[in-house]
Amino acid sequence: MRKFGISIGLILAACPAAATEPTVSDPTVVVRAPTLPVITDDPNLFETFGGREGLVRIMDDVMQRWMANDRTRPFFENADRDKVKALLVEQFCVIMHGPCTYSGRAMAEVHRGMNVNEGAFFALVEELQRTLNAMDIPFQAQNRLIAALAPMHRDIIDR
Ligand code: HEM
Repeated sequence: MRKFGISIGLILAACPAAATEPTVSDPTVVVRAPTLPVITDDPNLFETFGGREGLVRIMDDVMQRWMANDRTRPFFENADRDKVKALLVEQFCVIMHGPCTYSGRAMAEVHRGMNVNEGAFFALVEELQRTLNAMDIPFQAQNRLIAALAPMHRDIIDR
């Protein structure tokens, strides 16, 4: 039992920004994938993305691309885009083990009823990759992020 206690302590010590999944207020929403997946133990990933400032720059750039893309623009044109960008910064920061807290809603709850299809999902990720390339984020780091986002499609795409 003591050994168990020590290992939990070590895990918590290694994870100062341990992520708390957002609660879902609507009981009819089914959550399939974590909104805050743990993507890596790489302690440098958050820094590789430029820390919080880097994430802010990434969201500013990618939101412009989403607004310029016919597949994604219809979803965002009536949204509070500044709020979405701020919540994406928090979310990406948490999943990279950065020193942040995610204050948004669960992915299943946010995107329910939006009728997001596969084409829109892949267009959104493609534009994100264009931003990351433009900002010279190394491919290995990009891949870690994309691997974390991919399972979320179960909660985002309507079928
Ligand atoms: C892995 C992919 C995605 C992630 C990580 C993601 C993440 C987020 C986050 C964190 C928010 C803010 C949550 C909140 O308001 O509490 C949000 C909102 C939103 N997302 Fe996504 N999203 C993804 C895919 C998509 C796709 C494919 C679309 C449509 C093309 C989309 C459209 C929207 C819209 C329109 C909002 C604003 C909703 C509102 O203001 O009520 N998202 N998303």
